[in-house]
Amino acid sequence: MKHIMITGGAGFIGSNYVRYALEAHPDWHIVVLDKLTYAGNLDNLKDVAERFHGRYYFVQADIADREAVFAAVRQYRIDTIVNFAAESHVDRSILDPDAFIKTDVYGTYVLLEATREFGLERFHQVSTDEVYGDVPTGYSQETDPLEPNSPYSASKAAAELLIRSYRVTYNAPVTVTRGSNTFGPYQYPEKLLSLFITNAIDDQPLPLYGDGMQVRDWLYVMDHVRGIDHVLMHGQLGEAYNVGGENERHNIDVIRMMLRILGKPESLIKRVADRPGHDRRYALDTRKLRALGWAPRADFEGALRETVDWYVNNAWWWRKIKSGEFKEFYRRQYAERLAQAV
Ligand code: NAD
Ligand code: DAU
Repeated sequence: MKHIMITGGAGFIGSNYVRYALEAHPDWHIVVLDKLTYAGNLDNLKDVAERFHGRYYFVQADIADREAVFAAVRQYRIDTIVNFAAESHVDRSILDPDAFIKTDVYGTYVLLEATREFGLERFHQVSTDEVYGDVPTGYSQETDPLEPNSPYSASKAAAELLIRSYRVTYNAPVTVTRGSNTFGPYQYPEKLLSLFITNAIDDQPLPLYGDGMQVRDWLYVMDHVRGIDHVLMHGQLGEAYNVGGENERHNIDVIRMMLRILGKPESLIKRVADRPGHDRRYALDTRKLRALGWAPRADFEGALRETVDWYVNNAWWWRKIKSGEFKEFYRRQYAERLAQAV
């Protein structure tokens, strides 16, 4: 049996990965270690806890808490850590960077220390295409310099540099994936698609930053989790791999497609003041991971349809969230912008 610790497993991509991995690897025991911040939600793992009783365990802890992490690694005889835990929202990093440094940088350091201290077989870091910074033309390759532009992407790049140093200095068994903009079920409704779908269902305005011509490479969450799993199984130690949807779109086009699927009017779109330091375009070259046998499978419109249906059919899940802490964040982030919207 393998004993895998999945940090941040109660969040969006982490919970989708936990479900996938328990199905794909019958010989795995999985321990989710999660602080349950505003973005962590045990509702995301409710079915998992029922279906995989005996192979799934949950520990509430902070990855920056060395004692708690070491105790869990010891207790569950962990051999592999897959780190999804992070503060993940760019806008929140602009409002308040502190937690990003504590979790994304210091927290990753603690996990690397656990990897070293306990001689783990693998530490895998779930990183992001945002570490490359703005990509006006061409496609980012894994050898490109890291030029992050937001406190969030800088915290993820800092974590990657620590990981690199642990490889070079201690020969730590590390791998990294750099995923692009991910969408699908269980995404906290603060990100472009999850926010706009749930706002549109309620006929609320959709606050589009700037001219809406920014480009993101949209990746369905199941393609992302398969990419991470593929690197865990077949990746070379010390290497980073891009995981992209090969699906570049302007924000405005993505939102128009979503509104068409939902049958809601484009008049819901409100152009608001842009995000400071907003990267115009991300685009990934995925050949390195393709060479290992992975490729994205989702057809964008089909995956978007499935995602929209999921939010329509699971309003219980996001209404609970939107009635809590979210309200204060929404006020800080959008009240003034929407009051001045075009
Ligand atoms: P999320 O915000 O939905 O989930 C983050 C999870 O981490 C939550 O369960 C939260 O409770 C937990 N967490 C936060 N701080 C913690 C701490 N100090 N200790 C333990 N747990 C903590 O994030 P997500 O969108 O699922 O992203 C997961 C990972 O993937 C992140 O590392 C992110 O940088 C990366 N990523 C995200 C995307 C995307 O489009 N969402 C794309 C590429 C990479
Ligand atoms: O690229 C990978 C990254 O994708 C991940 O590392 C991050 O964790 C994840 O949050 C995401 O970052 P983005 O900043 O690209 O995602 P977000 O959904 O916040 O924004 C997507 C685009 O939509 C971006 O150009 C900003 C724009 N946007 C976003 C929001 C929330 C708007 O126009 N209005 C909004 O209200």
